[in-house]
Amino acid sequence: MKKTFDVKRLVTAGVPAQFPHDGKPHAVLLGRSNVGKSSLVNALTGSSAARVSKKPGKTVTVNFYDTGDFYLADLPGYGYAKRSAAQTNDFSSLTDTYMTKSQEKRVFIQLIDLLVGPTADDVMMLKWLTANRQAFIVAATKADKPNAGERRESLERMSADPLLRGVSVIPVSVKTGEGIETLCGAVAGLLKQKK
Ligand code: GTP
Ligand code: MG
Repeated sequence: MKKTFDVKRLVTAGVPAQFPHDGKPHAVLLGRSNVGKSSLVNALTGSSAARVSKKPGKTVTVNFYDTGDFYLADLPGYGYAKRSAAQTNDFSSLTDTYMTKSQEKRVFIQLIDLLVGPTADDVMMLKWLTANRQAFIVAATKADKPNAGERRESLERMSADPLLRGVSVIPVSVKTGEGIETLCGAVAGLLKQKK
């Protein structure tokens, strides 16, 4: 099984005209600010190409990592209250356009902090994915943080959540490497189904 995806080049989009549409499918990372999207891109690609920060709101463009077969797309996170009104506006129009107007074949990786569980914004996102019949899996991030009891409880709660019925929830940690290979396999599987 593939351990990581090879990145050939990076396409950074600050405006919708820069979104790549060359027929290759997109595997899109979704999640609130600071949940660990860019860190996961680095783990999935075995690189440090994506900028990671302790401060939320780091990623402000849509970054497409071209693996040759598909693009891994890193979006700015939602739910970050401290952006300026203008930034929030730019961000929303860029990601909204990407989410609602893109004609590409897409699969989604919804990131949910394993310790925190789905936030109200995550629930909105899950509802959008379901309502729009999008193929998605969940990466439960920062799996190194909860203790065994917290982890079990959170995973049980997610598996009982009607919004996650039939959805794979994969605990991942970029600190320990847990779940990275499994997630790679799951993304490859989703993309295969989409073809
Ligand atoms: P935005 O770009 O603001 O949307 O954030 P992001 O979702 O891209 O998060 P990012 O990858 O920048 O990570 C945010 C913080 O979480 C950083 O301090 C990371 O080091 C930390 N982090 C990410 N993944 C893990 C993990 O698996 N375990 C732990 N303990 N910390 C993590
Ligand atoms: Mg980021």
